[in-house]
Amino acid sequence: MKLEGKVALITGAGRGGRGIGRSVAMALAQEGAEIVITDYIPENAEAVAMEVQASGRRALAVQGNVAVWEDVEKIFSKATETFGAVDILVNNAGITKDNLILRMSEEDWDAVVDINLKGTFLCTKAAAKIFLKRKSGKIVNVASVMGIVGNAGQANYSASKGGIIALTKTTAKELGSRGITVNAVAPGFIQTVMTDQLSDDLREQMKKQVPLARLGTPEDVARVVLFLCTSDSDYVTGQVISIDGGLFM
Ligand SMILES: NC(=O)c1ccc[n+]([C@@H]2O[C@H](COP(=O)([O-])OP(=O)(O)OC[C@H]3O[C@@H](n4cnc5c(N)ncnc54)[C@H](O)[C@@H]3O)[C@@H](O)[C@H]2O)c1
Repeated sequence: MKLEGKVALITGAGRGGRGIGRSVAMALAQEGAEIVITDYIPENAEAVAMEVQASGRRALAVQGNVAVWEDVEKIFSKATETFGAVDILVNNAGITKDNLILRMSEEDWDAVVDINLKGTFLCTKAAAKIFLKRKSGKIVNVASVMGIVGNAGQANYSASKGGIIALTKTTAKELGSRGITVNAVAPGFIQTVMTDQLSDDLREQMKKQVPLARLGTPEDVARVVLFLCTSDSDYVTGQVISIDGGLFM
């Protein structure tokens, strides 16, 4: 098992069923990692932590808002109190509040940028403190292809994800000499609660744009995140890997 003895903290991992964070948690646990599930919604975090425990690994659920520094400090101190350390951070928590720029409110801009981008920064800062002392660590940020190509109706979301990509590269440069790798994944159209709500028509249109002719699954994303969390990717840093079935090349 590639992550035996490692502790992985995954933000926004409380969405059961088809959440990307949950799939990442299960994939890392399958490789032997102990898992810290954090989410804004406590009962969801508990439910996924129980699922991880049922698979035979230790898991801790911690409620917190990644956009609030006090919460982030609490999350990391509970994680280190319980497991003694954190070795891997997956910044997965994210939201959308879509609208065209002229109709987008300042509140919706701030909410998305705060949770997606500032949340990733705050968790990175908390993890970096631990990783620098240990001279090792892996950070994987969940961006989006929309952060690379932009998307009409998603100014706040695409800007936050583009910001995450720039933050990934800067963090990789700052922490690289201490044995810490920092990478991002950029999922495309993934079958989750979000895409479940779309009409069959729209889903078919989306599939037609994808060279691999299907939507991605949370497991498709989790397998690439897993690679970036193991020593298999020790000489990979500052990279953005698209998981989009070839949608954008
Ligand atoms: N679903 C897709 O097609 C897709 C595509 C590209 C990128 N992504 C990205 O993947 C990540 C996960 O997406 P998903 O589809 O599984 O989303 P999801 O909505 O199912 O899960 C996001 C989780 O984050 C939690 N969360 C929200 N705000 C939070 C906060 N302030 N603090 C802590 N937790 C918070 C939610 O409670 C939820 O459990 C997101 O960053 C998303 O932008 C998703």
